[in-house]
Amino acid sequence: MKMPVIRFPPGQNAVEKLMQHLVIGAGSAIAAAIIDQYLSAGDSIVAVSRSVQPDAMARADGRLEWLQSDYSEESIQGICNRLRESAMVFDRVFICNGILHHAHLVPEKRLEEVAAELLTEVMHINAFQPTIWVKHLKPVLRSQQHCILTAFSARIGSIGDNGRGGWYAYRASKAALNMLMKSAAIEYQRERRNVQFLLFHPGTTDTPLSKPFQRSVSPDKLFTAAYVASQLLSIIDGLDPEPSIQYLDWKNTAIEW
Ligand SMILES: NC(=O)c1ccc[n+]([C@@H]2O[C@H](COP(=O)([O-])OP(=O)(O)OC[C@H]3O[C@@H](n4cnc5c(N)ncnc54)[C@H](OP(=O)(O)O)[C@@H]3O)[C@@H](O)[C@H]2O)c1
Repeated sequence: MKMPVIRFPPGQNAVEKLMQHLVIGAGSAIAAAIIDQYLSAGDSIVAVSRSVQPDAMARADGRLEWLQSDYSEESIQGICNRLRESAMVFDRVFICNGILHHAHLVPEKRLEEVAAELLTEVMHINAFQPTIWVKHLKPVLRSQQHCILTAFSARIGSIGDNGRGGWYAYRASKAALNMLMKSAAIEYQRERRNVQFLLFHPGTTDTPLSKPFQRSVSPDKLFTAAYVASQLLSIIDGLDPEPSIQYLDWKNTAIEW
């Protein structure tokens, strides 16, 4: 694993406060659109991904710091330690990671397709890793700066909204993510009142994650990553300060838990 390095843009030094956004799972198509929109607005970003920085993001003239992580707890903690030691103050954090399928993982239609190994893998990536980030981000988000931490959930993680069943691993992992973030938000309220949580459902968005499942989606219900990113950024900018955690979709409508 490449060790993360935190550099400061020219003219900045470690004692100056530098407002940043943190995008975790920056290889996501929606994350790329978020980064693109923030860079276009002149903002600065720290991005974390398993992958190397895409060439398309090279235009950032020092406003994009790209860190690689294998998302082991050691790596997450190492990155958070470095962020804490820097003078960076984050006002936006996005945790974009999520898997639905890969070569050996297909969303289950029936109980007969459920396998403990796959449940564990999906749960680990979609629910447990974001929680490990939130654990190690607590010392990073220690300033008085108001910060909105968005974790990408999905409507399918709503227990109340589950009328169709199926997709056991993905559903359960997003429901678990919601519960874990709810507990974290309660704890942050006691110790980091400046941090507010958002669980965000982007709607069906044209990304590698939804690709195999797009045939049944009408074109007007299949969003571009750019559209979803701009919806999310405007929702965040206008987010009510209470309650400390909200579960919203791309239309800014509350989702049943
Ligand atoms: N697209 C949709 O229709 C839709 C609908 C509802 C919810 N969502 C949620 O939106 C979020 C962003 O997804 P997307 O649509 O932009 O999908 P995407 O382009 O396929 O991005 C996948 C994301 O998952 C991470 N990831 C993939 N495999 C991983 C692994 N083995 N370990 C750790 N992280 C891994 C990637 O992180 P790296 O940067 O490290 O590659 C990246 O952040 C996800 O949480 C997804 O569940 C999407």
